[in-house]
Amino acid sequence: MVSEPKLSILFTAEQIAAAVKRLAAEIRRDYHDKNPVLIAVLKGSFVFLADLVRELNLPLQIEFAQLSSYGHGKESAGKIRVVKDIQGDIKGRHVLVVEDIIDTGLTAKFFLEHLKKKQPASVKLCSLTDKPSRTQVKIDIDYLGMTVPDKFIVGYGIDWDERFRYLPDIRAIEDES
Ligand code: PRP
Repeated sequence: MVSEPKLSILFTAEQIAAAVKRLAAEIRRDYHDKNPVLIAVLKGSFVFLADLVRELNLPLQIEFAQLSSYGHGKESAGKIRVVKDIQGDIKGRHVLVVEDIIDTGLTAKFFLEHLKKKQPASVKLCSLTDKPSRTQVKIDIDYLGMTVPDKFIVGYGIDWDERFRYLPDIRAIEDES
């Protein structure tokens, strides 16, 4: 039988919407005349991306990539690989990577370096959340929604073993038994 963890709401749907609106205003200010390429890192960022682009309401291109760290479970093994690379050519383009969470920072560090080899005009990072208590490599997050405590979070696209991505808010798992 699948156990039901105890969840507590960290950010309501309204708080998330306000953060998305603020981020969109910052990004629009910087990219309104740049026709940027937004690259969403699957799977967790799909809900955030969908809300962000509609709030941006700007000419832009969307690409998807999927990365994976070796090993299973919540602890990253530290080795990242590209499962699905972007399809489009980003040479000379202004790129904005869209993430749902920066945890250790290893995925973002790897992916930003991977993209820079494709010779874009610029690469910046937008993440809905950051968990500074878990940082292993320092990453500059150019556009950050909110900081989260050292708890496992789910909802708004973010999963726990593929569960809870559908929740409209962001919740913390209080009891993982
Ligand atoms: C999450 C998140 C980031 C990564 C961050 O993806 O979307 O890509 O972990 O972790 P890090 O900073 O420790 O590298 P996850 O591997 O959970 O995959 P998913 O988005 O498909 O659920």
